[in-house]
Formats: sequence, structure tokens, C-alpha cells
Amino acid sequence: MPVPPASALERLEKRLEQLPLLPEVVRELMSLRQDSPDYFEQVARALHADPAFATRLLQYANSAALGAARPITTIQEAMLRVGARGAVDLILAHSAARVFEPRSDWESSLWKHSVDVAWLMRKLSVLAVEHRGEPDEAYVFGLLHDIGRFVLYLEAPEELRSVEETDWATPDELIEAETRICGFTHSELGYLALRKWRLPEALADAVRWHHTRPLPLNSIDGRYRALNALLQEADWIAVAAERAQGGDGAARAALRGALDGKLQLRLRGTVDNLEFAVHEALRESGRMLAALHLP
Ligand SMILES: [Fe+2]
Ligand SMILES: [Fe+2]
Repeated sequence: MPVPPASALERLEKRLEQLPLLPEVVRELMSLRQDSPDYFEQVARALHADPAFATRLLQYANSAALGAARPITTIQEAMLRVGARGAVDLILAHSAARVFEPRSDWESSLWKHSVDVAWLMRKLSVLAVEHRGEPDEAYVFGLLHDIGRFVLYLEAPEELRSVEETDWATPDELIEAETRICGFTHSELGYLALRKWRLPEALADAVRWHHTRPLPLNSIDGRYRALNALLQEADWIAVAAERAQGGDGAARAALRGALDGKLQLRLRGTVDNLEFAVHEALRESGRMLAALHLP
């Protein structure tokens, strides 16, 4: 990745000083071990600590999409319905949404993209040939991968507008426009933001490199290389799938072409299987967005 000029770096640092803090609970939840015997209780405790979380969880558990037969009114019941991990997913997304509350169509569509990539990561990680990690970990990497774009929106809306006016069509074109217009990229900005929030280094690194191809393998912890590669694929698929959603036959053909061409290398299954997984991911993403009250 090219080193940004000093003036751009200075502006970056200034922006990060003003960055809102991610709620402490996010770091707490990310540090919990899912195999610990009191995982369920620890998550329940975090939910009880914040009425907004509890409300969202109850709404989610009662949503028609989850087919609730009778109203669920307690946190315990809601957690049994969606699982401790389902509750954690919701808290993470809700926490990040509170920091970067969508106030425009652009921010809403970026939220949709983030949650889409999160669900794609979860669904595709089980199909990835080389990846041996947790689907839940993959989910978080997807959810936060474009956090730098939210920062750009908050701190440099005019530059962001210029970037968007280039009408970029692929992640590569986006990076090219940012480098030319801003002098830095949302990957670098996201990396610095996650470091500031003291989130795990492997996560910050994945955000930093999510548009660098080929991946700088020597800079990435060996355990996370496959996950980093998957993140790049999921991002491309999400962009293609978002275009295909409600689009014409050509957009769908483009998505199938993307699945067929470069993804067969690392993912198991036929194009039909992959396309099915993509649709499943987008459906789950839609449920989550509805629970967060994002369009
Ligand atoms: Fe990105
Ligand atoms: Fe992205």
C-alpha cells in the first residue's frame, strides 16, 4: 500500500482524535470465549446492562421472520430463541450502528453492505477450502471491514462525495478514487480506527489489507490468511449481489460469472450452491437490518 503524503496523514490523525468511541461492551463481548461454561450468562449480563440492547433483542426474537408462535417477553427466552451468539451479533451490529447512526441513504446502504458482507462471511466460511476458523469470527470481520468509510463520511463528507461522484463500480475502482482524491484509503482509516478502539489486531489488519491484492502474506498472521482472502471475496460478491438484487438478468449473470470465475478456487461447491449461499446470506442480513431498524 502506498504511503500517504504527510499532509493527508496529519489530517487522518486529526480526524481520529474526534472519532466517537465504540461502546466498551463490544470489546468485552469480543473477548468472551464461546466455549466457556458461563458464556450464556455473560452475554445475558451484557444485555441486561443496556436497555437499548434488550429492546432490540426482544424485537428481533419476536420478528415475524423468526416465526415466533407466541410473544417473547424476557431476555432469557429471547436468547434461547436466537442463541447466545445471535444475541452477540445483534449487539455488535447495534453498537456500531449507534456510533455511526445512519442519517442518509448513503449511510444506510453502507450499513446494508456491511451486514451483507458479515453474513456472506459466515455462510461462505464453512465452504472455504483453506479456512479453518470460526464462522462467527468471520462474521465480525465482515461487519467491520468498511468501518473506515463511515469515518470518512463523518469527517470528510466533501471528499467522500467526490469519491462517490466517480460512480465506481468495483472495490478496485473505489480504492483508486480514494487514493487520488483523499490521498489515503478507507482501509487505512478503518485500520487506525480499530486500533484506537483497541479491537483485536488480527481484525484491524484484515481491515487494513482488505483491498490490497495480492495480500501481503508476510504482514498477516498465518492463522488469518485464509480469512483475509475470504474477506476480499465476500466484499466482491456483496457488491455484485447488491447490484443483482432487484436488478435485471445481466446483473444476475454478472454475479454468477463472479462466483464461477474467481471463487471456485477457494470455495467448495457448484455455482448454484454458492448462489444459494449468497441468497441465504442476504436474507439473514435483511432480517438483521430490519431488527436494527435500518432500511
Ligand atoms: Fe472496503
Ligand atoms: Fe466493502
